[in-house]
Amino acid sequence: MRPLLRLRGLTKTVGCGRAARRVLDGVDLELQPGELVAVVGPSGSGKSTLLHVAGGLDRADAGEVTIAGQPLANCSDAALARLRAARLGFVFQAFHLVPELSGEENVRLAARFGAAGARARVATLVDAIGLRAVADSLPAQLSGGEQQRFAVARALVNDPAVVLADEPTGNLDAASGALVLDLLAGAAGAGRGVLVVTHDAAVTARADRVLALQDGRLG
Ligand SMILES: Nc1ncnc2c1ncn2[C@@H]1O[C@H](COP(=O)(O)OP(=O)(O)OP(=O)(O)O)[C@@H](O)[C@H]1O
Ligand SMILES: [Mg+2]
Repeated sequence: MRPLLRLRGLTKTVGCGRAARRVLDGVDLELQPGELVAVVGPSGSGKSTLLHVAGGLDRADAGEVTIAGQPLANCSDAALARLRAARLGFVFQAFHLVPELSGEENVRLAARFGAAGARARVATLVDAIGLRAVADSLPAQLSGGEQQRFAVARALVNDPAVVLADEPTGNLDAASGALVLDLLAGAAGAGRGVLVVTHDAAVTARADRVLALQDGRLG
């Protein structure tokens, strides 16, 4: 089976001079259709960096990223943006909702870049994350956990081949976390590939594989 996400020999150093530190040191990963894979590791170990590189939001110093069969290496910024819009759903650790748009409008905005069916999924997803009552609130009026759930809905609305989620239940109580986890597991169940950075035992318990990022290595 062709992996939906393939990482080969990724290395990346952050900081410069004496503060330089290699956070990725030969990271390999293949994420197959239908897989929910969890990445764990201490704070500062490079988990977010890994996810950003895997999603084409940041570049590695060396190594290869391939999303849905397409190597990112020679993509222009415009081609990368198209690929991300069509094939990738990304949940940022800090959410990054558009501040001028309501929670539901954030999800709807993402749907504009997807296939026709995406628009029909907006309301369903807002209901599924349990946020119908605050759908019209701006991000600044939402709690951290509510923003996080809208960020998850935005990442899933285009039914992307690959979902990269950075601690997507980190701000949630058990019940809200379970809603998000059901959605992520549902995406994997529908044949997508889901890579989740997490400290949440409920997430690692549902994962097909749990990998630890330690000293720049994933294993
Ligand atoms: N742009 C940057 N410039 C310099 N150092 C950076 C930069 N981005 C991240 N770092 C450093 O790289 C290391 C890895 O950061 P990263 O955010 O990937 O960690 P993390 O595993 O996601 O941590 P957490 O669990 O706290 O979210 C940290 O030591 C961080 O300080
Ligand atoms: Mg992080």
